Amino acid sequence: MMAYLNGAFMPLAEARISPLDRGFLYADGVYEVIPVYSRCPFRLDEHLRRMQASLDGIRLKNPHSADEWRSIIRRLVTSADYVDQTVYIQITRGADVRRDACFPLHAQPTVFLFTSPLVGPTPAQRESGVAAITQPDIRWGRCDLKTLALLPNVLMRQLAADAGCAETIMLRDGFLTEASTSNVFVVKGGVILTPPKDHRVLPGITYDVVLELAAKHQAPYEVRPVSEAELRSADELWLTASTKEVLAITTLDGKPVGNGPNAGRPGPLGRQMYAWYSDFREEVMRHAET
Ligand code: PDD
Repeated sequence: MMAYLNGAFMPLAEARISPLDRGFLYADGVYEVIPVYSRCPFRLDEHLRRMQASLDGIRLKNPHSADEWRSIIRRLVTSADYVDQTVYIQITRGADVRRDACFPLHAQPTVFLFTSPLVGPTPAQRESGVAAITQPDIRWGRCDLKTLALLPNVLMRQLAADAGCAETIMLRDGFLTEASTSNVFVVKGGVILTPPKDHRVLPGITYDVVLELAAKHQAPYEVRPVSEAELRSADELWLTASTKEVLAITTLDGKPVGNGPNAGRPGPLGRQMYAWYSDFREEVMRHAET
């Protein structure tokens, strides 16, 4: 796997950072995860914009212009010998000479990227959907920033794994927020529901694509708070994330999602949205190549 660290490209195994790096000591940094299809980063400008918003949110100056980011990413993506990739970007506030919570005066940000083969859902997960559990959302008040402070998400994701599930869906004050590494959509009576982008959720790039596709194809949708009761009585549930695209949740806390013949199976609207998403991705990639 190939990496970029502070100006140099190298094999991932050769990348080294200081133990005093504030990413390591304080989770003082931000990150992005960008899917790459046929060596073409998907929605790159949107990912770079969200990264800028995360940097602004933690008061860290962006060490590169958008053009510089594009050229670093392009070179990294070209250097890999596989075409479908996941590019990970991490920027921290750098390494000081001592451990001190206050911002360092002289440290340079640490810029780290690596690319790895894109690993999406398995064909079996696409066909049958995945299981999820629920938990109270115990995270901080700025979940809109994509920061390195992921311990609550890690613990939630592990709870899901321990239960043989793919994800943990979080609830705050009786309302759906998101899942540990994805946004959540609910289908109820033919209407697609999802919580608004506020401080409680990550503004997902895939979330935006799904809402754009719903609007384009005139599928009814509402962006508004979604109650726990609506989550539990949903006809369909979907996860969205860069590496999962649109993935059906077919079991919630051990109970099948939905009613009737589709109970516990991926529903028609989710299948339709995944098809729209795949077509849209193909179309974008075709334009990128020409
Ligand atoms: N996770 N919500 C959370 C908490 C996430 O971590 C993610 C993405 C999303 C979906 O965002 P997007 O559609 O932009 O990928 C929502 C990435 C993939 C990760 O942490 O690996």
